[in-house]
Parts: sequence; structure tokens; C-alpha cells
Amino acid sequence: MDAHATSKPASVHRSVADLGGPRPLPVLGNLPAFVRGGTPHRTLAGWRERYGSTYRMRFPGRDVVVTSAPDIMDTVLRQRPTTFRRASFVSDLIDELGAHGLFNAEGQDWQRLRRVAMHGLNAKYLGESFATITRSAERLRNRWNASAGSRIDVVDDMLRYTLEVSVGLTMNYDLGATSGAGEDGLHRQLSQLFEALGRRLSSPVPYWRYVRLPADRRADAAVAGARTLILDRYAEAKRRMVRGDAPTDFLSALAKAEVDGDELVNDDDVVGNVLTMIVAGEDTTAAAASWVMHFLAAHPDVQRQVRAEADEVLGPGGSITEPPVLSRLRYAEAVVNEAIRLRPPTPYIVLEPVVDTTVTDGLDRLHIGAGTPIFLLLSHGSDDDTRQFPDPQSFRPQRWLTDGTARATSQPYLPFGGGPRFCPGRNLALMEATLIAAMTCQAFTIGPDTSAGPVGERVTFAVFPTNLGVRLQPNLP
Ligand code: HEM
Repeated sequence: MDAHATSKPASVHRSVADLGGPRPLPVLGNLPAFVRGGTPHRTLAGWRERYGSTYRMRFPGRDVVVTSAPDIMDTVLRQRPTTFRRASFVSDLIDELGAHGLFNAEGQDWQRLRRVAMHGLNAKYLGESFATITRSAERLRNRWNASAGSRIDVVDDMLRYTLEVSVGLTMNYDLGATSGAGEDGLHRQLSQLFEALGRRLSSPVPYWRYVRLPADRRADAAVAGARTLILDRYAEAKRRMVRGDAPTDFLSALAKAEVDGDELVNDDDVVGNVLTMIVAGEDTTAAAASWVMHFLAAHPDVQRQVRAEADEVLGPGGSITEPPVLSRLRYAEAVVNEAIRLRPPTPYIVLEPVVDTTVTDGLDRLHIGAGTPIFLLLSHGSDDDTRQFPDPQSFRPQRWLTDGTARATSQPYLPFGGGPRFCPGRNLALMEATLIAAMTCQAFTIGPDTSAGPVGERVTFAVFPTNLGVRLQPNLP
């Protein structure tokens, strides 16, 4: 027998230093190229075309791995919290803003907080607080009715909508952002927190550790103000739970867990987790809903289909009171999935190994040292896998329905992450975006307004459209 025919191909062992990648500058490495233009996800995608699915880039003082290889992504996402964790440079930044919660907790702390947080995000509470979502969606529709025909700043309005929903669901507090009220107080404090987070995430050096600019001092004061308000509301929620009331929101679900002795909850847990839920849920969902409007404005045929479905499901009043009705808005949800596929709000996440480890991609074995940041490109699969996503660049909501080829939560397409730290807010985000898509198409015909320039992208905590304006013409009943 031919020895070559039976011998297995040898596996290849590599270290991070052996990986190909863009040529680094002295000292700063590839960081300037990475942040240039404010769209790092596009830079990473371009390098991926050039250097393959797993490559290396250089940040000051350290190598960084970037991968979209399904086997490696699967291992890294699943082996948490034992072997991998969120990259410490991301977690530290969020901690420094006083929002230590589920997103950046690790090890046993994360396990405990995930349990605590899931008390407040399970389907029962979401069902009970559904009225909060519909109230905000209706207010947004009223706001748009009042300015029918004029230019709507989509991102600004979607931020109002998702912020109002997030604050309502987490702490039963009516921000009034969609009705134009409540521009001061918590609304302003949270805006300052987001602004600081966005600026620090895109800053090449952590200047705030050495010097506090006026904007950083404003962010500190904003967090202190929000903390007082959250703890006041928590104390009140605890009193209600002691009286035997049923929990109605995330904060009262935490209070119930503490009152029943199921969990030990301290003040930092409460503040950190409320802020985390708001930070993790507001920008991401606003970005998704904004991109939905962008695609709807460009596709009148899709709008008509969403409207026909909404007329049938929502009825002439255009509102829903029961969450199960939402599951009948299947075409509207397909539109949301398709918008998220083409413009994922979080195209990558950054993790790192807790200990030295080896990951495999087919026969390739890659040794990664503890603490090496790994960028996981979560959504590239939908461009590559033309079997699951034929004609991947086209906006085709139908692919999520009768075509039956596209699946929302499996490799190689993971816009909400994967493994034990999979986004716990996915259902809520889909609810918010689907509802607003259906209600808007039922009430208005959406036309693009490009008076501010062509639609581009900007990255803060999520990837937002820039210059996105639309004009809404009320539909005849
Ligand atoms: C379209 C909207 C959203 C997108 C694209 C999105 C995406 C993501 C991604 C990619 C992760 C990281 C998952 C991982 O590490 O495997 C994540 C985590 C998380 N998301 Fe979302 N998210 C969205 C909406 C929300 C909402 C509405 C909430 C709040 C209710 C939320 C709360 C969280 C939290 C708390 C985590 C951390 C989970 C953990 O580490 O255990 N997200 N999200």
C-alpha cells in the first residue's frame, strides 16, 4: 500500500506571531489604521479579505488576533467563563464609568449576575411589561404624525424610543423621551454617559486615567446622579416586594430575588446592572431600528408587504396589547432580521484567554497566550455562506420566511454572540424593532430624505447610520 495514501495530513502548530496581517507602524502598530475613518469594522473586514479568516494586528505593546473562523469562534464563545473572558481593556473602560454589571463581570461573579439578571429578563416579566413597549411605540407614532411631511432624524428618534423602553423596563420609570418631555434629569445623565463611553471606546489612549476633561467630569456627575435615582427606586421596589406585590420590571425582579433570599444583591449590583441593561440595550436596538427604517425607505415594495401584514394583525387601531400577537408579525420580523444581517449593530466583540490556550481551525492549531485580545467578527458568515444566504448583498426579507434557508442564531452568523454569554436582550430587541416597523408602515409611507448627504456609518457602542433622514406621509385608512 502507498504510505502516502494512508498517512494523515500533519497538523500545523502556530503561535500568534506566525500569523499574517497588516504591516504595523513602530510603537503605535496598526492602531491608527484601525481607528481611521471611525469605521473599524470596515477596516477589519478589508484586512480579512487580504489576510484570511484568522490574522494578527498590532496594538501598542501587544499582538491582537482577529478571527472569523467558525471553529475558533465556536471554541472561544463556548469556553466562557473558564478559558475566555471579555477583553480586560473593554471591561475596564465600562467599569471605570461605574457600570459594572453582567456585560463585564467574569468568573463566579458573572455566573451570579447572569442568574440575577435573568430574573429580570425572563419572558414572564417581558410579557407583563409589554405595555411599556407599546406605549412608547404609540408615542413615537404620535410624534411622527405631528411632524408628517417634514424631515425626521431617524437615529435621534430611535434613541428616544429605545432609551424610554429600556428605562421603563429596567426601573419602571417613564422618561417621556418620545413625547419630548424629560429632556433633563435621567435622560441628560444617560446621554452624557453614552457620550463618554463612545469617546473612550474610540480613543487611542486612555487619557481619562491621567486627566479629567470637562466632558469626563460631566460623565462622573451624571453617573453619580443616576446612581442616587436608581437606588431610591430600588428601595421603593423593595418595599413593594416586602408588601407582597408582584415584580413588574427588572429592578423589582432584583428586589424580589433579594427579599425572597434567592440572591445576595448589593447596591453596586443594582446600579451596575441597571446601567448595563440600559447601555447594552439602548444603542444597539436604536441602531438596528434605524437601519430597518433605512431599508424600508429604499424598498417601497417591502413597506407595502409590512403594511398589509400589520393591517391584518394589528387591526385598524394599529396597536397590540398582547405579546403573542407580535409573533404573527412574521414578515416585519424578517425585515428586522434582514436589516441586522446587512448592518449588524455589533459586528465584532473582543475576548481574551484567561490562561494560555490552543484553539484549532481544521488542522491548524493556534497557540494564544493569556491576555491576548481576540476580535471575533460575528457577522461575516452571512457574506460567505451563499448556500444559507444566496445573493448575500441583497436586501431580501423573504429569505427568513418561505425560502427557509436563513437561520438567525447559528454559525456562521452570530449578531447576538453565542455560547453561555449570548445576548439576553435579543428577544426584547426584536420585539421593539418589529413593533415599530409594523406600526410605522401601517401609519405612513416612508420616503428617503438625503438632504443631509448620503447615508454613511459611525461607530460608538454600536454601528449607526449617519445622515439618515426620512419623510413620512400619513397613509389613508
Ligand atoms: C439589536 C440589538 C442588540 C444586539 C445586536 C446585541 C448584541 C449583543 C452581543 C453581540 C453581545 C455579546 C454576546 C457574547 O458575548 O457572546 C451582547 C451581550 C449582552 N447584551 Fe445585547 N444586543 C442587543 C440588544 C440588547 C438588549 C435590548 C439588552 C437589554 C435588555 C441587551 C443586553 C445585553 C447584555 C446584558 C449582554 C451581556 C451578557 C453576558 O455577558 O452575559 N442587549 N449583546
